[in-house]
Amino acid sequence: LGYFTYDPGFMSTASCESKITYLDGDKGILEYRGYPIEQLAEESSFLETCYLLLNGELPNEKELEEFEESIRTRSMLQEQLKTFFLGFRRDAHPMATMVGVVGALSSFYHEDEDVHSQEDRMDAAHRLIAKMPTIAAWSYRYSKGMPFVYPKNSLSYSANFLHMMFSMPSEPYTVDPLMEKALDMILVLHADHEQNASTSTVRLAGSSEANPFAVIAAGIASLWGPSHGGANEAVIQMLTEINESGKPISDFIDRAKDPKDRFRLMGFGHRVYKNYDPRAKIIRKTCHEMIAENTFSNPEHKKLLETAMELEKIALEDEYFVSRNLYPNVDFYSGIIFLGMGIPLNMFTVLFALGRTVGWISQWNEMMGDPGSKIGRPRQLYTGEDKRDYVKIDKR
Ligand code: CMC
Repeated sequence: LGYFTYDPGFMSTASCESKITYLDGDKGILEYRGYPIEQLAEESSFLETCYLLLNGELPNEKELEEFEESIRTRSMLQEQLKTFFLGFRRDAHPMATMVGVVGALSSFYHEDEDVHSQEDRMDAAHRLIAKMPTIAAWSYRYSKGMPFVYPKNSLSYSANFLHMMFSMPSEPYTVDPLMEKALDMILVLHADHEQNASTSTVRLAGSSEANPFAVIAAGIASLWGPSHGGANEAVIQMLTEINESGKPISDFIDRAKDPKDRFRLMGFGHRVYKNYDPRAKIIRKTCHEMIAENTFSNPEHKKLLETAMELEKIALEDEYFVSRNLYPNVDFYSGIIFLGMGIPLNMFTVLFALGRTVGWISQWNEMMGDPGSKIGRPRQLYTGEDKRDYVKIDKR
C-alpha cells in the first residue's frame, strides 16, 4: 500500500486530535470535557452542556446567563426564510427540509463570516444552536399544513421547541414540565459523540474552509441515514412492521441473524460500544419509568412498547447478539420515549439533529482554531482497469 494504510469504514483510524469528548467503548464510558455523561444528564441543562462543549469549562452563573441570553435573542429566523419552507413539497420529510433550510442560512450569513476568526465562529455557533429549534419545529408545522409559531423567548430552550411544535392559534398551550425535562435530558445525551459519521462529515466538509451553515447541513444529511441518527425512526417502523405482520418476533430475530438477509434489528449494535451504550443505560431507566407510570395510554403505542420490551429481552439473551456485543443503543430507547411523549415519528431524527448541532459546531470550531489543521483528503485503493486507449464511438 505504499505510504498509506487501507481502513474501510475507518475501523481503526483516528482522524484528528480532540479535547471535546472521551469515549471508551469497552468500558461503556462517555465524557464531555471530562464530565461523565451520567452526571450531566442528571444535573446539567442542555444549554449549560452546550456552553461546556463549546468553551471547554462549565459556566459560572453570569456566563450561563449571558450565554442563554445570546441564544434567546437569536432564535428568530429571517422572515424571508419562510418562503423557503413554502418551496418544499407539502409532505416533505422534516429532515429533508432541515438539510435545505440550514444550508440556506449560508446565503444570509456568508460575506461577513470569517472561519478563521474565533469571534465569528462563536457567532455562527450561537446562531445555529438558537435557530435549530425554530427550523425544526417549522419543518414539522409545514409538513402538517399548520401555521408557523414564533419563538417565545421567556421559555427554556426545550419548552420553546415544544411550544413551537404544538401551540395552536386558538388555544393556549402549556408545556408539560415533565416533557420539558425529559426532552432537555435527551438533548444532553445526544450533544456530542466524538468522530461518528455525521461529525466526521462536518469536519471533512469544514476542512475546505466552507461556510459553517453549509457544513452543518452536510452533518444533518449524514445523520439522516438509518444506520446513524435515522435509527430512532427506523426502530418504530420495525416494531410496527412486526406487529402488523402477525408473525412471531422470533421470525424477525432469525432474519436479523441470517447473513443473506440485509434486515437488522434497528436500535441494536454500535461501532464503538462493545459493552453497553451508557446513554442507552440512562434513557432505558426513563423508558421503564414511563412504562411504570402508564405514560403510554394510546393502545397502539402500548402494543409497540410491549413488542419492544419483548425484543429487548430476547436479544439480550440470544447467543448471536450476546456473542457480538449487540446491545440496545440510544436510538432504541429514545424512539420509544419520543413515542410516549407524543412526538411525531418523522421528527425523531430531527430531535437527534437538534441535540447534536452543538457537538458538530464545537468539533468544527476546534478544527478551525487549530493552526495545524489540514484539508481532509483520504486516499483509495484503485481496483479499476489498467491504462487502455480510447476507442472511437463507431468502433465500440
Ligand atoms: N442486527 C443484527 N445483526 C447485527 C446488527 C443488528 N442491528 N448490528 C450488527 N450486526 C452483526 C453484523 O451482521 C455482524 O455480524 P457478523 O460478524 O456475523 O458478520 C456483526 O454484528 C458486526 O456488525 P458490523 O456491521 O461489522 O458493525 P458496524 O460497527 O459496522 O455497525 C451499526 C454498527 C450501528 C451500523 C450496526 O450495528 C447497525 O446497523 N445497527 C442497526 C442500526 C442502528 O441502530 N444504528 C444506530 C447506532 S447508535 C446511534 C448513533 O450513533 O447514530
